[in-house]
Amino acid sequence: MALHWLIAIVMIGMLILGKYIDANQAYHLMPLHKSIGIAIFAFILWRCVLRLQKGFPSALGNPPFIQHLLAKVVHIVLLLGTFLFPLSGMIMSAMGGRGLSLFGIELFAMNIVDGKPTPINPELAGLASNIHGALLPIMIVAIVLHIIGAIYHHRVVKDDTLNRMLGRV
Ligand code: HEM
Ligand code: HEM
Repeated sequence: MALHWLIAIVMIGMLILGKYIDANQAYHLMPLHKSIGIAIFAFILWRCVLRLQKGFPSALGNPPFIQHLLAKVVHIVLLLGTFLFPLSGMIMSAMGGRGLSLFGIELFAMNIVDGKPTPINPELAGLASNIHGALLPIMIVAIVLHIIGAIYHHRVVKDDTLNRMLGRV
């Protein structure tokens, strides 16, 4: 539960921050974007290990097959998205020669050639950049479906799916 809400809030914030930086060329916020992304990656890895060990929480009641399948697919997309977003960001920055820093602590050095940051592996950096950009619409659709699902359970089916994730049952 704690991991779900921590990662959910940070991911939604990071989607907005990333889009804001890109749309407004607010590059002074990029170190913040990168640092939060690197920090949350540790929690995301922890959660992925938990999911591999324990699987996903089982559904309450007996939902129709299609509804159950949709919920599972969305959960898997959300989990993969939370993993691939920061990973692609780190690869894009490191392989782009721009280094990696966590709130000012250098984790991966910049590749300075002739006084300017120079890509180490431009193909890999480009691929990671394409993945980082392509994940945005996919994650927005998945998050919207996921929230609609949570409201549907709470308001229409009136079961404890949301209450269970809020620790109320
Ligand atoms: C926690 C996960 C993250 C999310 C949800 C996220 C989200 C985003 C979004 C939505 C954009 C704008 C993309 C667009 O408008 O096409 C963006 C851009 C960017 N992000 Fe992230 N990001 C995350 C982690 C990271 C990390 C860890 C780094 C690097 C260490 C990073 C580096 C960048 C860079 C360099 C851009 C500029 C766009 C580009 O060059 O393609 N991000 N991010
Ligand atoms: C306000 C927004 C959100 C609400 C109300 C919400 C609600 C829920 C609920 C009720 C469950 C339990 C489903 C069940 O028991 O079958 C759940 C599971 C899950 N949620 Fe969310 N969620 C939200 C945002 C997010 C976001 C932003 C992400 C990821 C980016 C996310 C990822 C997941 C995943 C992967 C699961 C599967 C179980 C797990 O791995 O913990 N959720 N969510």
